Amino acid sequence: MSTATRPRLLRAEQLDQAAGILRGGGLLAFPTETVYGLGADAFDDEAVRGVFAAKGRPADNPLIVHVPGPDWLPRIASEVTPLAADLARRFWPGPLTLVLDAAAGLAPATTGGQPTVGVRVPGHPLALALLEEAGVPVAAPSANPSGRPSPTTAEHVLADLGDRIDAVLDGGPCLVGVESTVVDARGTEPVVLREGAVTREELAATARAGSAASPGTRYRHYAPACRVVLAQPAEAAARAEEALRDGARVGALAESGLALPPEVTLIARFNGAADLARLLYQGLREAEAAGLDVLVVTAVPERGLGRAVMDRLRRAAE
Ligand code: TXA
Ligand code: MG
Repeated sequence: MSTATRPRLLRAEQLDQAAGILRGGGLLAFPTETVYGLGADAFDDEAVRGVFAAKGRPADNPLIVHVPGPDWLPRIASEVTPLAADLARRFWPGPLTLVLDAAAGLAPATTGGQPTVGVRVPGHPLALALLEEAGVPVAAPSANPSGRPSPTTAEHVLADLGDRIDAVLDGGPCLVGVESTVVDARGTEPVVLREGAVTREELAATARAGSAASPGTRYRHYAPACRVVLAQPAEAAARAEEALRDGARVGALAESGLALPPEVTLIARFNGAADLARLLYQGLREAEAAGLDVLVVTAVPERGLGRAVMDRLRRAAE
């Protein structure tokens, strides 16, 4: 990792350079359909430790391994269960991470010392081309310092980690905006460990409620510098008034059509959960940049993508 030089912003035409950084043990941020990841060769322990250092991430929180296709699974997992094969067929490339028993040879840092590993094939053409070109599996958490909102543009990555990584591959804004769903696929039915972009409805009517949770869900997350107030639409105006009376600078990320006091800075309007997913992390960053004390966000129904969005909002609001 080169710390003194400014990181390069690489375009799609510079894919070979981006892949070279990964093969050479460097740190490369790259786009996926969910959020930008901060990648390193999953077999290179020193490189992967560099990812943890750049993010300030607790060493016991494992990383997701990204591969260009399901044929890579046997190199990452020691046992590919029939359930995993089925889920891979149905959802890859896409925002579903499968947790399986880890294959030998992965860097200890990648798995955070656990016997299992998370693996996914991202649904982003540039990410897939990068992984093909690199020819190594890529361990990548979201490319934000631990605790901060995840990045959905290359500029977000530069602003947060610019002095700690080698380059960012620019693929424009992420289309989904919230992270992958993490599922334990070692048994006969999927167990959701982290809510995400693949909904429980899509997974299966039988997907069990999260009786277990990913290590990462223990930590404070997604938090901007301002206070986030999560409000039901009917209460949003009152919550904003309350904060204004306390002398706070108040902004809102609100469902379209909802009336708000005129003193409230409107960060963005959205139309339903999928729209909020796309806007959320950008909105948290804009609220911070606008110098707000309080950001009121209106809740969405907890079904479909709404589950992942509300999970992230609750953590941001903690
Ligand atoms: O969409 C995404 O998942 C993005 C993009 C870059 O792929 N990545 C991402 O990584 O969100 P990260 O590190 O920010 O979150 C990974 C989550 C954490 O909650 C972690 O604890 C969990 O996945 N995880 C990773 N490996 C695991 C394992 N072996 N067992 C249980 N949970 C695991
Ligand atoms: Mg993250």
